[in-house]
Amino acid sequence: MKLLTSPFTPVSICVVGSGYVGLVAAVCFAEIGHHVVCVDNDEAKVESLRAGKTPIFEKHLSELLARHLGRGLAFTTDLRTAAAESEAIFIAVGTPQSDTGAADLSYVEAVVSEIASSICGYKLIVEKSTVPVYTNEWIRRVLQRYGVSSSSFDVASNPEFLREGTAIVDFLHPDRIVIGTSSERAMDVLQRIYHPLISGSYYALPAALRGSCNRNSPPPLVATSAQSAEIIKHASNAFLALKISFINAVANLAEAVDADIEDIAAGIGLDSRIGPRFLRAGLGYGGSCFPKDLSAFHLVAQEQGVDFQLLQEARKINSAQRDRFYNKILSALWTLRGKRIAALGLAFKGDTDDIRESPAIDIVRRLLDGGASVCAYDPAAIDRSRSVLPESPQMSYARSTYEAAEDADAVIILTDWKEFAALNLARLKACLRFPIVIDGRNLYSVQTMCDAGFDYISIGRPIAASANLGHAEQIAV
Ligand code: UGA
Repeated sequence: MKLLTSPFTPVSICVVGSGYVGLVAAVCFAEIGHHVVCVDNDEAKVESLRAGKTPIFEKHLSELLARHLGRGLAFTTDLRTAAAESEAIFIAVGTPQSDTGAADLSYVEAVVSEIASSICGYKLIVEKSTVPVYTNEWIRRVLQRYGVSSSSFDVASNPEFLREGTAIVDFLHPDRIVIGTSSERAMDVLQRIYHPLISGSYYALPAALRGSCNRNSPPPLVATSAQSAEIIKHASNAFLALKISFINAVANLAEAVDADIEDIAAGIGLDSRIGPRFLRAGLGYGGSCFPKDLSAFHLVAQEQGVDFQLLQEARKINSAQRDRFYNKILSALWTLRGKRIAALGLAFKGDTDDIRESPAIDIVRRLLDGGASVCAYDPAAIDRSRSVLPESPQMSYARSTYEAAEDADAVIILTDWKEFAALNLARLKACLRFPIVIDGRNLYSVQTMCDAGFDYISIGRPIAASANLGHAEQIAV
């Protein structure tokens, strides 16, 4: 691979899709000096973005939007014009899970067929959405079917590894930048685009957002074939999901033998070959990526005749983890009808308002179905939750943890928001009818909760119990 040594030159970029990946990529490409047009077919969303309003709860997004809107960054619904005027077109539209579990690529295909009609001069088409292997090849075929000459475009894969909640910093300070293409020309354009990050020049700017990279330690570039890049994305998410399911399975074993999963995870994670991250036992993974990507990756393997049951097992453990947690609530409260439960957290993880595939929403639904009343508090996800949880007298929302806990029979912790890990425990106890906390995120040490006078049930750790709990729990202590 030829490494770029020339000075930075801005590239005209079109990003199609203003969801998590598209919007963050568009704003960050503008931040590193490019001319960016972000396209979405949702007119109301485009209008709102033009007015500087962000549709998602994401740190630094409003700040960067305000910094670049009307300068290097614009929003439009007109894909053809935006594509015609750009050198590189990033496809960042949704690839939702279809009924079969495979990724639904119809949005990608629709975008590609529309781009085909606007190709005049060379274009680089870049897959940014999470897609199965060979999508690159399909994009090429679709363009050729629409009569576009193969000399006037290249297709490359450039997967994104950002996490919700830290998306902007993840984009600007990535662990690696993966570029999959066999074309030197495509590689050259993508290296120009990422030049400020790869060369480290961005990190030397006074206004640069701070993170793990710096001028002397810029992110590495991984240059591969398109197929390898596509698999790197799916395999990364699958591996992280496996890691979570692994620690959850070990947590269940820890419970059975009266060991402590936090000690075990610390002991495992200190092995530098394993590492400490993504070893937090809990309710299992949720969100718009891991569940969908694991299923899509499993199907990709099946289609290629590869037996990858390990992925299936990770999914099984993940779903059983929610059942186990629900059973912990039942065994602490005995029956649900007429009980009032304070639910802390609705988002699929802390620092986001996203509730897609959220274990918290699932648990709240089950409690309501079981006849309990639930009063939920989440710092950001209440509005979104109202649209998916039943409107019923049994379901209510609070403006704080303490309001939710007022007269409740128990508190359940469902999301790892930082504020839930720093509660005033004496105040919490005073609000509750019974001092019972069932923690699906292990936010407190057992000793702390015991000292504060709570019956405390968590994941993979001994239970701190008093006479308030049922017989089964007391035996488990
Ligand atoms: C995930 C990946 O981490 C990103 O690298 C990837 O780019 C993204 O998917 C994507 O494909 O777009 P995200 O879904 O935002 O990012 O969230 P994570 O921080 O990975 O958490 C996923 C789920 O795992 C959450 O429900 C979280 O609570 C859970 N989790 C995470 C655990 O239960 N334990 C852990 O130790 C870590």
